[in-house]
Amino acid sequence: MAIKTRKLSGTPQQEPRSYETEHAQLARRAAAEGIVLLKNENGLLPLAKGSKLALFGAGAGRTVKGGTGSGDVNERASVSVFQGLTDAGFEITTKEWIEDYDRRYRQARQDWKEAILTCQKELEQKGGLNAFFEAYSTHQFAMPAGAPVYKTEADVAVYCVARVAGENADRFAAAGDYALSDTEREQLKTLGNLYEHVVVLINAGGVVDLAFLEELPHMQAALVISQPGMEGGHAVADVLSGAVNPSGKLTDTWADHYEDYPNAATFSHNNGNVEKELYEEGIYVGYRYFDSFRVPVRYGFGFGLSYTTFRVETTDICTAADGGVTVQAAVTNTGAAAGREVVQVYVGLPDGRLEKEARRLVAFGKTALLQPGEMQTLALTFGPEQLESYDEDSSAWILEQGLYGIYVGTSLQESTLRAGLQLTQDKVLARTQAICPLQQELKVLSLPAEKRAARYAAMQAEAAKVTVLPYDLSAVETRTVDYQLQEPQDEAAKLVDTLTREQLICLATGEPSKGQSDSNDSDKVSALGSAGVAVPGSAAETSSAALAQGIANMVLADGPAGLRLTQTYYVKNGRAQPVPMEMSLEHGLFYDGPLPEGEPYYQYCTAIPVGTMLAQTWDLPLLREVGTAVGKEMKIFGVQLWLAPGMNIHRNPLCGRNFEYYAEDPLLSGRCAAAITNGVQSHPGIGTTTKHYACNNQEDNRMASDSILTERTLREIYLKGFEIAIREAKPRSIMTSYNLINGVHAANCYDICTKAARCEFGFDGVIMTDWTTTNVDDTCTASGCMRAGNDVVMPGMDMDHENLRKELADGTLTLDELKLCVTRLVRVILHSDCYEQ
Ligand code: BGC
Repeated sequence: MAIKTRKLSGTPQQEPRSYETEHAQLARRAAAEGIVLLKNENGLLPLAKGSKLALFGAGAGRTVKGGTGSGDVNERASVSVFQGLTDAGFEITTKEWIEDYDRRYRQARQDWKEAILTCQKELEQKGGLNAFFEAYSTHQFAMPAGAPVYKTEADVAVYCVARVAGENADRFAAAGDYALSDTEREQLKTLGNLYEHVVVLINAGGVVDLAFLEELPHMQAALVISQPGMEGGHAVADVLSGAVNPSGKLTDTWADHYEDYPNAATFSHNNGNVEKELYEEGIYVGYRYFDSFRVPVRYGFGFGLSYTTFRVETTDICTAADGGVTVQAAVTNTGAAAGREVVQVYVGLPDGRLEKEARRLVAFGKTALLQPGEMQTLALTFGPEQLESYDEDSSAWILEQGLYGIYVGTSLQESTLRAGLQLTQDKVLARTQAICPLQQELKVLSLPAEKRAARYAAMQAEAAKVTVLPYDLSAVETRTVDYQLQEPQDEAAKLVDTLTREQLICLATGEPSKGQSDSNDSDKVSALGSAGVAVPGSAAETSSAALAQGIANMVLADGPAGLRLTQTYYVKNGRAQPVPMEMSLEHGLFYDGPLPEGEPYYQYCTAIPVGTMLAQTWDLPLLREVGTAVGKEMKIFGVQLWLAPGMNIHRNPLCGRNFEYYAEDPLLSGRCAAAITNGVQSHPGIGTTTKHYACNNQEDNRMASDSILTERTLREIYLKGFEIAIREAKPRSIMTSYNLINGVHAANCYDICTKAARCEFGFDGVIMTDWTTTNVDDTCTASGCMRAGNDVVMPGMDMDHENLRKELADGTLTLDELKLCVTRLVRVILHSDCYEQ
């Protein structure tokens, strides 16, 4: 097979291309579907077309489309709420306020830039490596609150609270971040006094404190507009005008108070310890905690209102010999507006030897657009693997005998017991080996046994009123995991046998990229996830060391909110000019130099809604469509691997990267990642990279923080989603996380990479590290990656090559271990679209 010659990526034509229009429409639809209506007193919404609106708040004219860092996208243009509402024919009575805000915003960005540059100087004086990147990525940009609000002739005020977050820094449970700033509170209070009706829009990638909705007057309606991508403003207008009836549902528990989250006090910087993160809440993450401990919430998991009402009836429940269960749910639109509804199935688990959460999500589905009076029956299925718990004593996935209650509804809180399954004896679904043992004692949260027993008794009593089916799992075979890897002796393996040791070493890391900056500091340049040469702004490339033997080099670009490339680069004498590092950061804010010489080439990519918002649609076919669109852009620009989806669990609302991830629930996260992956990979020759594998739930000190948790918690909460994504969609690659898991860097962890991903979940693609993982200290090395079965060290630094040479020489790394990793990479490359057909 001949390697394709790469053409220049992008085009010199500036006019929008057809894919842009198409994908913008899809981004708009996805955003509208992901908006969650929290409150709508007296049916204030939808608003009459053409009505006058007094629009205020940081997100009004400067709507935050997504987070910062590698999760950002360089789209052509983004539609603000102001623009969206104007385009939809609303009359905005506060244009001056919005213009004034814009000036304040630009000034705040300049001030922020100055602060970063000062910090950089200080760090550099202390000999800081990559000081600029460090300074940049650990400083959040806080949106200014704007000038005082005032009365206009409008009846309705719309206030858009905005928040920005991004990688390498966690949020704060403080005013201006998790809570309203004093000024925002003052502004909202004033609005409540000046206007009869106030609509609040939450333009944030994660949870914020919504106590003010009850405390302040006239806060009549509230919507989570999340970080809605480049078409967000239009999507908000679609929902406010009623063109789209909201059908999004929360994918996290929005607690009454931050302190209500079980790990609130100890999460990340909160307890002053960012080195060790003790997962003492165990399996009680998100709603599993609030539901089991009966802690009241403000807006619960799966919650979201509509402009219409629905009735959900469970018409049939049946079981199959393989343990599969199907729930038929008939959904009728009982209101006056057309709309869609999400039906959620939760299972209440029996009390037994293992302590279990009260209920867990096992299935969900979304109706089509139902007209008033219209009915649709959804078939919602789940298997015994959705009911299993991990028993550390026997290293097995088991179902304990007893009653499994089936709850159906339109949110966790509103779901009711509709039927039960009675399992008469314990069932072992799979036997495994133990992984990632704890290195220290960990006190894990537990609900007193009497409370669990009482809860179970209550469910049993209630089940007397519904049908309880026998649950017969006798025909289901117990799987025993085979930990002997069977690696095929295929073309890839044969090709790898022909490579020199030096070529193997090169292929085991990405291509150290020095061509993208005028800096000679290779660490500084290659540290950035925008240093790719062939496709400017891509994150990196795999090695070109064996092109002569027919091993192509793939291009990897970031996500998950679209494809992250440089929007404009310059071509001279047929060659792309290096893009200075500062130009590719924060949309060029830090670059004061001249434009590079040559003809501009444009790479306009679509900024889709952030991961959490995509998940809030609860619409897997839509997510697949979104993935297909991203895949199309990968094809257009010549990218083989997308460094997305991100699918870490929302363990605590302050994690700086929650916006990139889907949910606090592993099933929902896994299904979303699978849908997106299936979409991307419907295009032959390209693939996704599920990340960050695993337990990357904190951003402060992300490269050296140790996630300390029990094996059961690890498996049930933090690996489960990855397992689902792998089984349902076979992603081409996985990216390991920066953190350690019980004392071992995820990147160097054999249990995580090989035992869990490959042997247990059946992953057959390539595993890569997160960027510069090996640059922390000696506890995480390139050779350690190879031994763990982590095949490619990204983005590839000279120090990684040196480490591989050294350990091969002293025998701590064998040539076979190295070859095995390279073979897995080559296998993915050979199936990529880098070759002529
Ligand atoms: C992020 C990854 C990203 C990589 C490449 C890292 O800083 O953690 O998610 O894919 O950079 O840009």
